[in-house]
Amino acid sequence: MSGNSGSNQMWGGRFAGGPSAIMREINASIPFDKALWRQDIAASKAHVDMLGAQGIVSAEDAALISDGLDKVAAEYEAEGVPENWDLEDIHMTTESRLAELIGPAAGRLHTARSRNDQVATDFRLWVRDAIDQAELGLRQLQVALVARAGEHADSIMPGFTHLQTAQPVTLGHHLMAYYEMIARDRSRFADARRRMNRSPLGSAALAGTGFPIDRFRTAAALGFDGPTDNSLDSVSDRDFALDYLMAAAQCSLHLSRLAEEFIIWASQPFGFVTLPDSLSTGSSIMPQKKNPDAAELVRGHSGRIVGCLTALMITMKGLPLAYSKDMQDDKPPVFEAASLLALSIAAMTGMVAEAKFRTERMRAAAELGYATATDLADWLVRQANIPFREAHHITGSAVKLAESRGVALDQLSLDDLQAIDPRIDERVYAALSVEASVAARCSHGGTAPEEVRKRVAEAQRALGLEETA
Ligand code: ARG
Repeated sequence: MSGNSGSNQMWGGRFAGGPSAIMREINASIPFDKALWRQDIAASKAHVDMLGAQGIVSAEDAALISDGLDKVAAEYEAEGVPENWDLEDIHMTTESRLAELIGPAAGRLHTARSRNDQVATDFRLWVRDAIDQAELGLRQLQVALVARAGEHADSIMPGFTHLQTAQPVTLGHHLMAYYEMIARDRSRFADARRRMNRSPLGSAALAGTGFPIDRFRTAAALGFDGPTDNSLDSVSDRDFALDYLMAAAQCSLHLSRLAEEFIIWASQPFGFVTLPDSLSTGSSIMPQKKNPDAAELVRGHSGRIVGCLTALMITMKGLPLAYSKDMQDDKPPVFEAASLLALSIAAMTGMVAEAKFRTERMRAAAELGYATATDLADWLVRQANIPFREAHHITGSAVKLAESRGVALDQLSLDDLQAIDPRIDERVYAALSVEASVAARCSHGGTAPEEVRKRVAEAQRALGLEETA
């Protein structure tokens, strides 16, 4: 790209010759770390304000530098951040532009600071924002899930294990399962945020500084809970980014599972859901097709997000204290994961909010597959005091008979049932409907509509919504 071939204007003092083209290219992080410009300006302003307050630089120089940083920020906002590989990164790009704007006083900004604590600070601020963004998006997804779950607290569908019909459940219950997953994801992000919210600024290159800085002041100015406590750790810790990526990876796995449900439900043999046109695509050859591409890409993106986590874990593995340039590679995976996650959350929120659930198809499917067989076994235990294992066996015979006749369990005659076990009487039919089955499962956290409504109401309260259930 651009730049002279002479020695670097920021650190070239001891060098006779300039870096090779390869060196300049492999060294440059500006193509991606320019995304940190807002954080870099904010941290520099907090730093210079503190330098002025502590008398480390004069009040006039501090004000000059601070105003100059505002000008640089305004330029970045209007024109974007220039990419000059000779200036390597956002930190030197900003300082160099500051020097052009205000002259030699700009050189005082880097007193008692190093790019090592600077980048650690900027990146923490960026990740903190990414967490806040994820939190907002996930809350919206929960709002959508809770709304649809409330609507469908009574809608019956087959519940699956091994993707085989197991027992009837309600759609509201199924959707609320994802509400719970997302609640845990939110708590993981919140936990990561709490842990990372300490300021590394003032740790300098690795050992701290002899200047009488006030790290508590800069920490407070940047919204941190306080300064970090070990300078070596501060410049080389990337746990905060890994914590974020771990939370993002786990969240993306949940989104991928939800996406997969929609993909299965939208397939013609299932036909449980009609996906919103706004989140589907057509086929260029098959005119009838409506493909769940957004859901498939959410499923695909989770693989990439997990890849981002793996990339940074492997980068960090085995690095000695303190800063090593490997750590410059921390940013691309985090940036990539954050944008993939934001898209995935938005896509699934739209999908949940706008999908048309085909409840009549779901209910019909719940009637198939002998989903109420467990209810027959439970009835035998309760009404005839038969041990569950024996009841299980009797029920198995009833299923076998129904299967051979091609009918549902409740379509077997009382004579048929009594031929299998004489202790069965006509009251059994009340237990064999899918409605009775879900209504019976009223244990805490069970699928009974009344339980689902209770949990929906709690969720609405937790989200600060008006209760409707
Ligand atoms: N661009 C660097 C990074 O992203 C900034 C820190 C450079 N520090 C150094 N000693 N070379 O990690």
